[in-house]
Amino acid sequence: MENKKRILLVGSANMDLSMNVLRCPAPGETLIDDGGVAYTPGGKGANSAIALQKLGAECVFCTRLGPDLHGQKLFGYYKELGLDTSAIRVDHEAPTGLAVVIKEASGQNRIVVYPGANANLTADNVSEAFACAPDAAYVNFEIPFPIAAQVIRTGAARGIPVFVDAAPASKEHSFAGLPEVEVFSPNESETAIYTGVTPLGYNTALQAALSLSRMVKAKYIVIKQGERGAFIYDGKSGKIVPSFRPDAVVDTTAAGDAFTAALAVEYMRNGGDIYAAVRYGCAAGAIAVSRKGASSSIPTEEEVRAFLARRR
Ligand code: RIB
Repeated sequence: MENKKRILLVGSANMDLSMNVLRCPAPGETLIDDGGVAYTPGGKGANSAIALQKLGAECVFCTRLGPDLHGQKLFGYYKELGLDTSAIRVDHEAPTGLAVVIKEASGQNRIVVYPGANANLTADNVSEAFACAPDAAYVNFEIPFPIAAQVIRTGAARGIPVFVDAAPASKEHSFAGLPEVEVFSPNESETAIYTGVTPLGYNTALQAALSLSRMVKAKYIVIKQGERGAFIYDGKSGKIVPSFRPDAVVDTTAAGDAFTAALAVEYMRNGGDIYAAVRYGCAAGAIAVSRKGASSSIPTEEEVRAFLARRR
């Protein structure tokens, strides 16, 4: 039987209120647009947790949900997908996180998150979650930064790789004094917030990666560049892994969450081949953008293998 890697993901869970619009309103403008509206499971943490599980890891998801209908629905959804929910806590002080996702006809999106219960994740929640003895830990920044920093410290103290999806970005995040992580992965706009450099081609990506490497201790920095692929910096040199052309661009929501989770699963599975892992992440991201929704767009392990076989 395949020996699945257990990955502990500490992160956010949101209900997404998604609206399809032709264009976003200008300041002060009210738009009427019947392009469609839906409540769907989302949250950067949850999307990546679901991706880890669907792509072949055993994911233990540590998050906080509100005592409301959204929280109940999300919990049931995680259970149905087979996630280990033993580290999910119900918060009686705050509602479940809510994200308003405005999707423009171009496929681009704009997101505003009300953190709700995500803001109340505690150090104790994290310590309890690590009792599952994970093979790796995974975190993003849609939870309080000190909690994310605790995940990085605890993972390092246990000698396991820690994968950081550096989203959302904030200039307030301070990585000084934190131990080395395995992979630190922002997208282009997050990289621009952290470094002031927008990574458009090889030279600017290398400049941004060098700047990030002075900020964060990481074995690998992987800058997600959407249709341009991904830029890997290993502390000595940089390399671009090209993207795959998606079958269609339907909805980019959660494509970055799927990419980094896919990278982490494949890296743990293939013994640390970062180039193969990033290529696998690019395939998962290309499939995700061709489908509607956040977590609903995430492919399975079989789908990614089939996609890669077709695109060889
Ligand atoms: O990355 C996409 C996610 O960002 C959405 O699902 C939304 O909940 C926000 O967290």
